[in-house]
Amino acid sequence: RADLKAILLEINKIAAQYFYVQLKSSKGEAGLSYLKRRELSDDTIKAFGLGYSNKYSDDLYRYLKERGYKDEMIAKAGLISIDERHGAHDKFWNRVMFPIMDVNSRVIGFGGRVMGDAKPKYLNSPETLIFDKSRNLYGLNRARSTRKPYFLLCEGYMDVISLHQAGFTNAVASLGTALTPGHASLIKRYVKEVYLTYDSDEAGTKAALRAIPILKDVGITAKIIRMEPYKDPDEFIKNLGAEAFEERIGRARNGFMFSLEVLERDYDMHSPEGKTDFMREVARRLGEFEEEIERNNYIEAVAQAYHVGYEELRKLVVKTAVQQG
Ligand code: UTP
Ligand code: MN
Ligand code: MN
Ligand code: MN
Ligand code: MN
Repeated sequence: RADLKAILLEINKIAAQYFYVQLKSSKGEAGLSYLKRRELSDDTIKAFGLGYSNKYSDDLYRYLKERGYKDEMIAKAGLISIDERHGAHDKFWNRVMFPIMDVNSRVIGFGGRVMGDAKPKYLNSPETLIFDKSRNLYGLNRARSTRKPYFLLCEGYMDVISLHQAGFTNAVASLGTALTPGHASLIKRYVKEVYLTYDSDEAGTKAALRAIPILKDVGITAKIIRMEPYKDPDEFIKNLGAEAFEERIGRARNGFMFSLEVLERDYDMHSPEGKTDFMREVARRLGEFEEEIERNNYIEAVAQAYHVGYEELRKLVVKTAVQQG
């Protein structure tokens, strides 16, 4: 098994080198110009080992076969699919390739992006013996050596890369999957604070709300940075630049207060009834803070933000907690 893992790592490493060489060759022109259109520099392309999988070909499969790797191994590495009629095929073709590395910079899989609007936009390696999506974070191999006391946690490959290119070398992404407790404990080894920079859409907002308690469970404080009016950090940086992003970091909102802002959408905040119902739900949530000091600090913050009396709110929290038993 240890041997098998070593072989799968070796195959993925060779594949990454192969895709990189293709990107820089005449076959890779479309890929390289795509990455240039997305404003990535040669240094960035090299640092992240970006590549290109050739059009309509089984080039990688043949290359690996020539080097003596058996179909079974290449399939276990996640790089080919085998079907009865046509035999083995490259899984990735005509895509810009993003090698996914573990924390020690070993290639464990790939994401491949179409250069147009075809679907799926990104194709990813399947989970294999060496690739566990819920225990790896894209960009962590570089972010781990940041001097900042926090990570920027975003959604996508391009977000991480754009942020690093703009000097935010503490950016990581959970590979298109929801944040898991496994991700959270991994992060905890390096930092105690996370700034969530998810996409501005509904999916991104929901993902951020779900990530907050998962981070809190392992003792990480979460803050939220919103990317409006842009879609995600990549677009934000390209339009407004690094300084504006830095400013957003400075104005990050705390996770609990952000969750209340999202909650407001479910209530008619302009009617007394609506606002009262809202405050009851807020009181219930405040009651969930087990530590008294923390709870009181939040009661104070909420009282200020929503213009209600601290004492009244504190009483409501106690009353709600008693009612709930
Ligand atoms: P997004 O849809 O937000 O894409 O998915 P993006 O990262 O902004 O992509 P660009 O900027 O259009 O290139 C966020 C992440 O979710 C995963 C990828 O990891 C992606 O970076 N994803 C998305 C997939 O795995 N497959 C998909 O088809 C789409
Ligand atoms: Mn998204
Ligand atoms: Mn999407
Ligand atoms: Mn994007
Ligand atoms: Mn996005």
